[in-house]
Amino acid sequence: MIILGIETSCDETALSLIEASGGLKEPYFELLGFTLFSQIDIHKEYGGVFPAVAKREHAKKLVPLLKNLLTPSPISSQREEIGLREKVEGLLSREYELYKEFIEYIPSIEKPNIDAIAVTYGPGLEPALWVGVNFAKALGLYWNIPVIPTNHMEGHIISPLLHHTPYSTFLQKGEGGAGVTFPALALLISGGHTELVLVKSWGNYEIIGKTRDDAVGEAFDKVARILGLPYPGGPEISKLAHEARINKYQKKYILPRPMIHSRDFDFSFSGLKTAVLYLVRDTPPQNHKEKCVLAREFEDAATDVLILKTKKAIEQYSIESLISGGGVIANGHIRNSLQTLAQASKIHFFVPEISLSTDNATMIGMAGYIAYLHGHHVSRKDFIANGNLSF
Ligand code: KG4
Ligand code: ZN
Repeated sequence: MIILGIETSCDETALSLIEASGGLKEPYFELLGFTLFSQIDIHKEYGGVFPAVAKREHAKKLVPLLKNLLTPSPISSQREEIGLREKVEGLLSREYELYKEFIEYIPSIEKPNIDAIAVTYGPGLEPALWVGVNFAKALGLYWNIPVIPTNHMEGHIISPLLHHTPYSTFLQKGEGGAGVTFPALALLISGGHTELVLVKSWGNYEIIGKTRDDAVGEAFDKVARILGLPYPGGPEISKLAHEARINKYQKKYILPRPMIHSRDFDFSFSGLKTAVLYLVRDTPPQNHKEKCVLAREFEDAATDVLILKTKKAIEQYSIESLISGGGVIANGHIRNSLQTLAQASKIHFFVPEISLSTDNATMIGMAGYIAYLHGHHVSRKDFIANGNLSF
């Protein structure tokens, strides 16, 4: 089955074509092509993501990116169903530019060899999500193919399945796509989410812990801002912390590990960020080296909490495979610490390659396939964008 994935939940406009096969026990995915436009440079000026700007940029980029993905496409000789344009106009009426580009391009090409469209309908920034959802519905109408409402977080969970090269040396081929055995545990860490999800099987998830305030990526971004570093701050903090680590700079600061001993699997990162704020206000780092030392202590504090909670969950739920996804998994220290934990727990560890850990449409196509196998394109046909979507 060939699936077009569409992702517009935050600040990446992304489209991807995948070929999916196999059943729920052993899904198999191949990437056929992808395009992505990151709005980071646009949002940098504001120091964060602005929903209205994100929505406008998605609307601008969707048709050009689709052209890019489908090129070269033969010219269409298709006859159009009566009233189709009016329906598409209705869906895209709020995005006039998008409608204009759509109607200029789509009728001019032959229907591509695509069987279904998977689109992120949440969670994320609602105005941004709506652009993708309406675009997907318009394409679905035009090409007369199903549109699968897809959960962005399921995309992060399933993203490691694209490349059959698990990080772990403990891999044995077992049940579940690419050797993932159940119950699995997914630690999702991004700018918007910090969640521990129990994965009973593909499509069957339960959130067992989540952040009560800031997401871990958000804490990295806020701490970076406190230290005068550009947005997004995660990679900047991670660079400074790495410098402190390899040069063995002496520890100078002590930050809290919020909720590390709480009995549940929840997290809290806002207090950690506030602790950095007070520390910088009272004893500001005097030079680059001291900034590196502080960045390292922050990274250590965040990592300690993530690792301990994940370890407790692995033990309590007799977990067989550990999965991690989301932008923060690009952090080398966190990635290595998770791998060490998986090795010590003698379980498999799966992480996507870096380009699939940040937001992308390939993972949406993949999660869309799972949702399709569960029949969501039929049972949730009249879906709407939902910024707070959960499992
Ligand atoms: O998954 P993602 O691309 O978007 C969201 O859905 O949020 O994650 C972006 C987040 C940002 O907060 C960014 O600072 C963080 O991932 N991030 C990192 C690193 N690279 C990206 N955080 C820590 N260390 C990194 N190397
Ligand atoms: Zn994400």
